[in-house]
Amino acid sequence: MTDIYNGAPVNEPERQMYFIEECKKLIDGMGLFADGKKPTYHISTFGCQMNFRDSEKLAGVLESIGYTLIDSEKADLVLYNTCTVRENASTRVYGRIGYVGKLKKEKNPSMVIGICGCMMQEPDEVEKMQKSYGFIDIIFGTHNSYKIAELLYTLLMNRKAKEKDPSLKTRVIDVQKEATGIVEDLPVKYDSTFRAGLNIMYGCDNFCTYCIVPYVRGRERSRRSCDIIREAQDLVAKGVKEVMLLGQNVNSYGKGLEEDITFAMLLDKIASVQGIKRIRFMTSHPKDLSDELIEVMARHENVCKHIHLPLQSGSSRLLKRMNRHYTKEDYLLLVKKLRDAMPDIAITTDIIVGFPGETEEDFIETLDVCETVSFDSAFTFIYSKRTGTPAATFEDQVPEDVVKERFDRLLKVVSRCSAANAARLVGTVQEVLVETVGHELSDNSSGNTVESISTPDGTTALTGRLGNNLLVHFVGRKRLIGEIIKVQIDECKDFYYIGRQI
Ligand code: SAH
Ligand code: SF4
Ligand code: F3S
Repeated sequence: MTDIYNGAPVNEPERQMYFIEECKKLIDGMGLFADGKKPTYHISTFGCQMNFRDSEKLAGVLESIGYTLIDSEKADLVLYNTCTVRENASTRVYGRIGYVGKLKKEKNPSMVIGICGCMMQEPDEVEKMQKSYGFIDIIFGTHNSYKIAELLYTLLMNRKAKEKDPSLKTRVIDVQKEATGIVEDLPVKYDSTFRAGLNIMYGCDNFCTYCIVPYVRGRERSRRSCDIIREAQDLVAKGVKEVMLLGQNVNSYGKGLEEDITFAMLLDKIASVQGIKRIRFMTSHPKDLSDELIEVMARHENVCKHIHLPLQSGSSRLLKRMNRHYTKEDYLLLVKKLRDAMPDIAITTDIIVGFPGETEEDFIETLDVCETVSFDSAFTFIYSKRTGTPAATFEDQVPEDVVKERFDRLLKVVSRCSAANAARLVGTVQEVLVETVGHELSDNSSGNTVESISTPDGTTALTGRLGNNLLVHFVGRKRLIGEIIKVQIDECKDFYYIGRQI
């Protein structure tokens, strides 16, 4: 089949642009969708912001080919962008695949089903997909997702060849073990017109002993600052108000680049881009959060006074076993520095309960840090054993009932602290980025909760995001969506607010 690639450029992104055109020709010219309707696609994304960003890139290529997005899996092409960070992420993927297989069989046998993302970087998972899910047409990983046009083209050509020779196999499997260079300048379809994720680096070199990410996302690679700045400028020109800089550990940005640059220097440059209203970033690893970064955050008004700083555990002994390279005291010192520089800063975190060897004493250390720091919110996770990580072989796994009991205790402390922090903003006026028509709005006077309301004067229930990342519901005109406005915070409902536009 090598002759189908004749004429394709060798370099990226030209090569993929070529395959976008070739796919287009196949679909338009060869009557794949002869009834004249546009083919549809659907992408189901699991996992973190990095995966959501990758899905926007996949969508950009598919739309360039001529596919139209629909909101259900009853599409002509369905992609699953998977996550494997914890076991339940993988379980959910299998549930969806079972469902789509049935759809294909019963409703649309020519449907194209693709599976990609972090799970597909695990050889065992690929083997399982191959063996047990015959209806999957395309399998690819995180390192070559930019190749979707080429892979789709190969599949469509394989299907054509099979019409002549039914003994041929059509399935396309292309998983790259290691990442090669970063491919810039392929089409992207942004989910939102006013908020956007912006990759500054890929991969992770930290190898925390519980974590699968370094194995499925490869080594750290930073994008050149000129490419990042150019993208930030393009986003502003498109009307984007809030940019989220993305990386597994943004604080080590710059490693391996020819230019001499740190994350603090990059943030300083991005914050200075004309017209950029709000900047966030995630995730920060505490081990290399610099004083320089704190200074840049504090100096720029458009950098949100919010930091996501995963703690994982409050016990220095466990942190060592987790390979996190900081102690409880280091973490508390960082929090102090952040608050000294920015008294209103919102600090959020990730915590794992039940890491192998966690004793009651270790767990009490975690509770102690939570009380001392009083996080604005915390994602709490039950430790999940990931095959291939060092911690999976640790012998002292914590019994399930003990973990569950600790998890509930932690949740209580975390919820109490975040509710108390949130309440501090009641009575203040805050800048809010209006995001959506609100799902629910509590009527202040009656205490009733009503579904998204519309009033005769054209106002509706809206939801906006504060600098601290919490949401506020208020009444306003729909055209405010995508704008930054001032809202008086009237009431705190623990994890969100009720307010009034002023
Ligand atoms: N790069 C980010 C985190 C990415 S994964 C960082 O280092 O902060 C997001 C979160 O998932 C982690 O912070 C951790 O709390 C959690 N996590 C990762 N592996 C896990 C595992 N095996 N079990 C439970 N939680 C895990
Ligand atoms: Fe995983 Fe640690 Fe890397 Fe975060 S820093 S992605 S937790 S290995
Ligand atoms: Fe999951 Fe991959 Fe992100 S494993 S958390 S989608 S980097």
